[in-house]
Amino acid sequence: MKAANLISDREQTSKRCINVTLLGTGNVGKAVLQRLAQWDDNGFEHGLKITHVANSRVALASGEGVVAGDAKGFFEAYQTGDDLSQRRASLNCDVKKPTLDITNTNEPHIVIDATASEAVTARHATWLGDGVHVVTACKLGQGTELSKWKSVQSGRQFAQYGDSATVGAGLPLLRSIRELRQGGDRVTGIAGVLSGTLAWLFNHYDGMRPFSDLVRQAREAGYTEPDPRDDLCGEDVKRKILILARAAGVEIDADDVEVTSLVPEELQAVAATDVDANLSLLDTALRERFAAAYKNREKLIFVAELKLVDGRYRATVGLQSLPLDHPLVGGSGTDNKVAIWSDRYNAQPLVIQGPGAGAEVTAAGLLDDALRIARSL
Ligand SMILES: NC(=O)c1ccc[n+]([C@@H]2O[C@H](COP(=O)([O-])OP(=O)(O)OC[C@H]3O[C@@H](n4cnc5c(N)ncnc54)[C@H](OP(=O)(O)O)[C@@H]3O)[C@@H](O)[C@H]2O)c1
Repeated sequence: MKAANLISDREQTSKRCINVTLLGTGNVGKAVLQRLAQWDDNGFEHGLKITHVANSRVALASGEGVVAGDAKGFFEAYQTGDDLSQRRASLNCDVKKPTLDITNTNEPHIVIDATASEAVTARHATWLGDGVHVVTACKLGQGTELSKWKSVQSGRQFAQYGDSATVGAGLPLLRSIRELRQGGDRVTGIAGVLSGTLAWLFNHYDGMRPFSDLVRQAREAGYTEPDPRDDLCGEDVKRKILILARAAGVEIDADDVEVTSLVPEELQAVAATDVDANLSLLDTALRERFAAAYKNREKLIFVAELKLVDGRYRATVGLQSLPLDHPLVGGSGTDNKVAIWSDRYNAQPLVIQGPGAGAEVTAAGLLDDALRIARSL
């Protein structure tokens, strides 16, 4: 029996499913569809039924060549561009408004946001207010201005918000912090290696080889953004510590985080096309930092930190020289590693380590959140 028929049959018989719209068909969005398609039931038995998929150019709704719930069908449609452009012509939906009119329905609905779009995150609070659940991998909703974060928090009284994939690609970071608070603990500190790229760079830097060489190697391996300054400036890490801090009950604004970029002003000033030729501008300062750390038997680590100092929380992002017995020392590869101090984890922190990036783990984190919502309804 064809997968679509099977799904259609199951639709008649299975328990009530929640409709799912997936926004974004890039690395993460495709991995979401693939993961759903790999499950025997395409998510049905778990209560998920994919009904809409969109990127910034094309929106595809079930009933238009793909049966509701047929994740494999949606995946294949987005794999074959030509076929899709024909379907788009037959679709009665406005591709300029790819978020679709999903709120005009009485059925429960989850939007999975696998975009990096400000315009999409700007709608999270409205969707929640309309009773639409939101699950997201995008940091722009929770990791920027405090006002945006607050409007999402207000929306949480109307619908559920899944943000596990925004920091650590689904590692149980936000969940652990929230559970500590629910258990009556005050979180007194968080220190984390929150960028796989920067983790890799400093796990490999030995002070002998120029740092710029390693940056080139990381870029060739696909670990950096196309412009490596986007990783080295620490802005992405700043968004992550903001999300963790707010989950810990510390409502700080974006400007409250002190970020010390690795990118010197001269390198920041050059055009994107000239970055490679000027990467050696990184080398001298880092060689000196490495030599000083080595002399003190310490290790250089790019750390995002939230610390309670004299009754006030201070958030910082930047390179630190840490003693070898520090909980963040000893990671490997591109792993994220986060140490959390609280009332119960006072002397020794709770440490969580694992792959903190990658499409598959991020997709799994998004679907875990969606499944949690489906189970709770
Ligand atoms: N990749 C990872 O390992 C990872 C890990 C953790 C978190 N994340 C986060 O996950 C998100 C997605 O990452 P990615 O690597 O998959 O990015 P990507 O490959 O660049 O894909 C982004 C997708 O979003 C779509 N999009 C943009 N604006 C849209 C709109 N208004 N409506 C619907 N779709 C829209 C794009 O459409 P077009 O194809 O038409 O441009 C594209 O399909 C980002 O926020 C990222 O920070 C990624």
